[in-house]
Amino acid sequence: MKIAPSLLAADFAHLAAEVARVAPEADLLHVDCMDGHYVPNLSFGPPVVKALRAHTDLFFDCHLMIDNPGTLLDAFADAGADGITVHVELGDPRPLLDRIRALGLRVGLTFEPGTPYSAVQPYLAEIDILLVMSVRTGFGGQAFIPEVLDKVRAARAEIDARGLAVEIEIDGGIKIDNAHLAIDAGVDILVSGTGIFGADDPLAAARAMRNGSARP
Ligand code: DX5
Ligand code: ZN
Repeated sequence: MKIAPSLLAADFAHLAAEVARVAPEADLLHVDCMDGHYVPNLSFGPPVVKALRAHTDLFFDCHLMIDNPGTLLDAFADAGADGITVHVELGDPRPLLDRIRALGLRVGLTFEPGTPYSAVQPYLAEIDILLVMSVRTGFGGQAFIPEVLDKVRAARAEIDARGLAVEIEIDGGIKIDNAHLAIDAGVDILVSGTGIFGADDPLAAARAMRNGSARP
């Protein structure tokens, strides 16, 4: 089980120190890039990715919640992104997926809680990461939507049946008390923002999630 702390819940005044604080238990760093249009919130973009790149070797897992990701793919790659995930809600993602692949990055596709699995299923063989949103995108600290686990189970079954190398990532409302639900549904990567950065002991929280410690 991999853990991806979400930088959105870090102290933005001390980003490098915040990354260092969670790095011992982080397999990836989840970087939520928001443009104030696709979602009603603004966060960070390539300049911040570039600044952080000098401070860590962690895999930068960039989740683009922006209306025109195509205009920024090169900039994210140049800044040091390792993977880029785009939303299927923007329309046919294939041109974006192809460009992310051509940039030599890990290719991610994601979908909102209200979007059916059938919307991403046609692209399964063309991606490395399927990001299942378990909250509506826009803000950290929202409540986990358990109904999305049906989509995780559907994806897990298909990925295994077809022998695909796709990793399933889940994002939104993951905490110590529900991580085991995602793990047991077949997730490979747990994203957690407030569940890690908001914990008294972020490393212990990350370990507890990784172990699904609340499993009865
Ligand atoms: C929501 C972001 C999430 C968010 C998760 O739009 O995509 O990655 O940071 O935050 P928590 O874990 O606090 O729900
Ligand atoms: Zn995210």
